[in-house]
Order: sequence, then C-alpha cells, then structure tokens
Amino acid sequence: MNDLKHLLESNRAWAEGVRQREPGFFDKLAQQQAPEYLWIGCSDSRVPANQITGLVPGEVFVHRNVANLVVHADLNFLSVLQFAVDILKVKHIIVCGHYGCGGVIAAHDQQKLGLVDNWLRNVRYTKQKHEELLEKEDGRDARIARLCEINVIEQVVNVVQTTVVQDAWARGQALAVHGWIYGIQDGLIRDLEMSVSKAQDLQTRYAAAIG
Ligand code: CO
Repeated sequence: MNDLKHLLESNRAWAEGVRQREPGFFDKLAQQQAPEYLWIGCSDSRVPANQITGLVPGEVFVHRNVANLVVHADLNFLSVLQFAVDILKVKHIIVCGHYGCGGVIAAHDQQKLGLVDNWLRNVRYTKQKHEELLEKEDGRDARIARLCEINVIEQVVNVVQTTVVQDAWARGQALAVHGWIYGIQDGLIRDLEMSVSKAQDLQTRYAAAIG
C-alpha cells in the first residue's frame, strides 16, 4: 500500500538538505518565482530539465510532452507559453530535444503505439518535409539522429510563429528562442545554432541550421 514511502522519505531528506545549505531558500521561493527560462522538452524520464542544466527550483519554467512538440492548437502549451512570456517575462525559450527519442523513433519507423500516434503525426510531417535531407544520412540510426535534430529546429520555428512570441517582439520585449539537443549517451547538450531573437532573423537562421 505504501510502496511510494521511499519517495516521500527522499523528499524530506532533500528539503532538509536544502534548508541546511541555504536557510531561507523556501521562504524566498514562496514569495515569487522569477525564472529567466522556459524549457520545452520531451517527457522522457532521462531528460530532466533542472538536473541536466544544474538549475535549482525557481530558475526554469518547464513544459514537457512526448517528442517536445510545439503544436499551435495545443491549448496547454499555448497557456504555458503565454504565462511564461507575458507574466513571468522569461528572457529565453529553449526547445530541447534528445537523441534516441522514442517518439521520433516511433514516427520514423511508423510504429503503431495507439493514441500517441496521432500526436506523433507531427513528427511524421517533419520527416516527410525533409525526406531528401534524411535520405542523405548513412543508415537508419543516423537518419533518426538527424530527424531528432530537425524536429527541434522545426519546433523553434513553431514557437517563433506563435502570436505570443510575435506580439512580445512587436512591443519590444527582449526574448530569444533556442534549439538544443541532449545526448542521453553522454549527458551533454549541443546547441543546434537555431537561436532567433527577432522575427526578421527566422528564415536565415532556419536555412543555416537545416543546412
Ligand atoms: Co523523447
């Protein structure tokens, strides 16, 4: 019945450790959050935003879903984005994908997993759009790795094209959108050099990043 006891114990030990290292930490956080970053990542358990960037509670606002997708009809995502940009006024939005992404692999291999296939339709569209580019890669693994990267680049475009980001730029708010990819095999993040901080830069950055 209480098979999650270890998690609650672990939580108490963690909170106690934080209190000892930094008295007042929780009091300060309880007053307000002022994160500079919005993280859009995959739900994959191996890619926890705070841990891999060394950020503590209060420093990063997080949205995660299968295959780190930005879908313009996704009210959940749009709400996170709007709150992060308009209310919290984050300075950076980071779309972080990862190699070996199960969602990307499923879309690439046209696996049938159930309901999630509908969500992953978005990755299949990306694959179709870049078929020629992907065909140049040597073998399935390389194609999947490239698709993981291209998927991130396309999601950066999707973030940039939201009304939330466009409106923020139109009123002169400082905001940059970045594309990163994380290596599960080495714990390292690579910058896909798809950073956009104004609307006019989108096309040139996209062309350079897609290569
Ligand atoms: Co994933």
